[in-house]
Amino acid sequence: MIKKIAIYTLLISFFVSCNSKNEKKEILKTKKKEELVMYKPSEMTELMREMFLFQENSKKQIEKGELPLDFPKRFKKIHTAELSDQFEHDESFQNFTKLYLQNIENLGNSTKQNAKENFNIAIRSCIACHQTTCTGPIKRIKKLLIK
Ligand code: HEC
Repeated sequence: MIKKIAIYTLLISFFVSCNSKNEKKEILKTKKKEELVMYKPSEMTELMREMFLFQENSKKQIEKGELPLDFPKRFKKIHTAELSDQFEHDESFQNFTKLYLQNIENLGNSTKQNAKENFNIAIRSCIACHQTTCTGPIKRIKKLLIK
């Protein structure tokens, strides 16, 4: 129960809009907008936020010299998850999804020796898709890369 609350608090605390250059400004703007319309994140946004937290934990494992965490199957839904209005499931999107899931599969087959390298390849494919769709969180995603 407490764990659940902690996760939700985290999810709420790290809201970034796709188009924001300046995250703080964007959050302020969003707060103002929220007074008018209740903000409802898309299915994809919720999935992405969870996936971000998952990869953060997986990174910690690898940094400790362990294998990455098992990738939860539900994240594979990014193929079909409902997107906010400005995005489409076009061909480019599908290709980036495939590439990402392929890299995740390779990561799952890693040894302790190549886990770090495979992790960074997977994170770079998050960034690659984001460069063509949702640029706001890129800076944050880059922080997932293991030095
Ligand atoms: C195939 C393309 C694609 C891949 C791969 C991808 N994303 Fe996303 N991501 C998107 C799109 C599109 C959105 C916006 C969804 C929407 O608005 O409906 C998004 C939204 C987000 C958000 C913003 C959520 C918010 O608070 O507004 C974060 C954070 C995020 N992604 C992180 C990641 C991470 C981390 C990875 C890799 C582990 C990743 N993404 C892989 C396309 C992708």
